[in-house]
Amino acid sequence: MPPLPRLVRRLAPVARLPRGVATLQAATLLVAACAAGPARPPSPSPAVFPTPLVIAHRGASGHRPEHTLEAYALAVAMGADFIEPDLVITRDGVLVARHENEIGGTTDVADRFPARRRTALIDGTPVTGWFTEDFTLAELRTLRARERLAFRSHAHDGLYAIPTFDEVLALADSLGRRRGRPVGVYPETKHPTYFRGIGLPLEPPLLAALRARGLDRADAPVFIQSFEVGNLQALRRETRVPLVLLLAGGEVPFDRRLVGDLRTGADWVTPAALREVAGFADAVGVNTRMLVGAAPEAAPTTLVRDAHAAGLKVHAWTLRPEGVFLPPRYRGDPLAEVRELAALGVDGLFGDYPDQLVRGLGRE
Ligand code: G3P
Ligand code: CA
Repeated sequence: MPPLPRLVRRLAPVARLPRGVATLQAATLLVAACAAGPARPPSPSPAVFPTPLVIAHRGASGHRPEHTLEAYALAVAMGADFIEPDLVITRDGVLVARHENEIGGTTDVADRFPARRRTALIDGTPVTGWFTEDFTLAELRTLRARERLAFRSHAHDGLYAIPTFDEVLALADSLGRRRGRPVGVYPETKHPTYFRGIGLPLEPPLLAALRARGLDRADAPVFIQSFEVGNLQALRRETRVPLVLLLAGGEVPFDRRLVGDLRTGADWVTPAALREVAGFADAVGVNTRMLVGAAPEAAPTTLVRDAHAAGLKVHAWTLRPEGVFLPPRYRGDPLAEVRELAALGVDGLFGDYPDQLVRGLGRE
């Protein structure tokens, strides 16, 4: 395996190569990563990480199709502290990295499996498309990733495979050893109640994968995140890996809605509710707008102070520089958003462009 800068230069031209060659490069990377597998001692403590953490949202997803090994590797080369795989599961029970179980928008599945299209009820909402739980891992391996957003580059469409969670862990381990400090992994359980309901719970294979690599410990460079409360509470009884409750201002956690608890994200960040969260989680992952409004005149909230008082870290999502995402408050300057959130005292920033986070934090 070459040094990291050379590895990244090798990855960069993949877009210009035919599918077979690109796949071979990814496979080479993966084989090298897996060579640093479960039998090796764990990576060093996450105490070496700076604050705020640079968390590569779905990898360097502004530069490469999200949730691919290439997007994660590029994020690390750009200086990310953590890479973020959202997790769903296959019919044969293997965790894979996708933002949602419907994969029509981020892969070529419609071309390759047109007959598998169907409608499913996901968290109470009908969704039509192609679902990971209808495919074996071997079938998903035949697909290639595509950029989700029309206004981002599609130069890398059709080149990269869907990675398993274990492949993401292997990549992080390998790249961390190579750069001499750990690469953290920040998995999110997607639709945990739904998957448990169809007999494919996410948590057992998640914990098994972490345990196999010596990462089921309080000081592991890992955060497990969820928009649901119940699976975090259950995980708290099984692991000391840091847990993160995700919150969005107006949204009710799906599992709490099912039991009649209609508290929204805003209700979950009162001082009393944050103390409740601290009973089962180590951090809250909040929409940036819960920290400061989008308008130029908006004043920051007290969320960071209140969460810290409850003993919780605060991680903010998601920083994206494009005009459709960047609040008017920052007048077209995405680095101003990085600087403002850092000055508010957040402990981690999720961003699609980790290079911009690194630059905004003055870590270049
Ligand atoms: O997990 C933090 C952030 O990624 C939550 O939003 O929808 O991009 O997973 P989403
Ligand atoms: Ca996520």
